[in-house]
Amino acid sequence: MKACGAAAGAAAGLPGGLPDGIEFRDASLGDAEAMAELEKLCFAIPWSLENCKNALGANSIAFYLVCLLCGELIGYAGLWPFAPEGHIMNVAVHPGFRRRGIGAALLGRLIDEAGERYGLSAFTLEVRASNEAAIRLYGRFGFRGRSRRKGYYSDTNEDAIIMWRGEPADGAGR
Ligand SMILES: CC(C)(COP(=O)(O)OP(=O)(O)OC[C@H]1O[C@@H](n2cnc3c(N)ncnc32)[C@H](O)[C@@H]1OP(=O)(O)O)[C@@H](O)C(=O)NCCC(=O)NCCS
Repeated sequence: MKACGAAAGAAAGLPGGLPDGIEFRDASLGDAEAMAELEKLCFAIPWSLENCKNALGANSIAFYLVCLLCGELIGYAGLWPFAPEGHIMNVAVHPGFRRRGIGAALLGRLIDEAGERYGLSAFTLEVRASNEAAIRLYGRFGFRGRSRRKGYYSDTNEDAIIMWRGEPADGAGR
């Protein structure tokens, strides 16, 4: 990936905050290819291009934000709004740009926007039990583990931790 300005420092692992030249906006269908490429870099079982097109297409109810650096997609986050709950689907940041606050910026914006646009008051997600980075990120936003799904991830038979921010509507924490 080419980098510009302060982004070159980020790519080299230099310390600092959000890189210069960064922007956040709603995702559109035109982001599907870049999103699918990022999926391959970020997940053991990445979404295909078709999955990404479906998530971003006109018939999707999903809400996605992307993060761009000098016009290139380096992160995204999305959720399904099932009022009063938002189901967070994915948060992903390009490996060359991690630990710069981008994941937190995406998640924070996603939660704020979802509250404003859809009136969501609680959020839930599932995360691999071994994904310490993501669990810590979610923890910083008030997500807490409420239950576990045994062997949820088919590639490793790993458990999923079900995390919630706010109270589930039925109070059970599925
Ligand atoms: C999880 C992920 C999105 C974090 O993105 P990021 O831009 O590096 O996160 P941030 O820089 O905003 O970090 C915010 C906080 O998350 C936690 N965190 C992030 N990466 C971490 C790591 N490698 N180890 C421990 N904590 C980590 C820290 O609390 C961090 O705050 P700090 O830097 O002040 O300590 C990124 O690692 C990623 O894309 N991982 C692969 C995809 C994935 O697993 N997504 C989650 C699926 S449920």
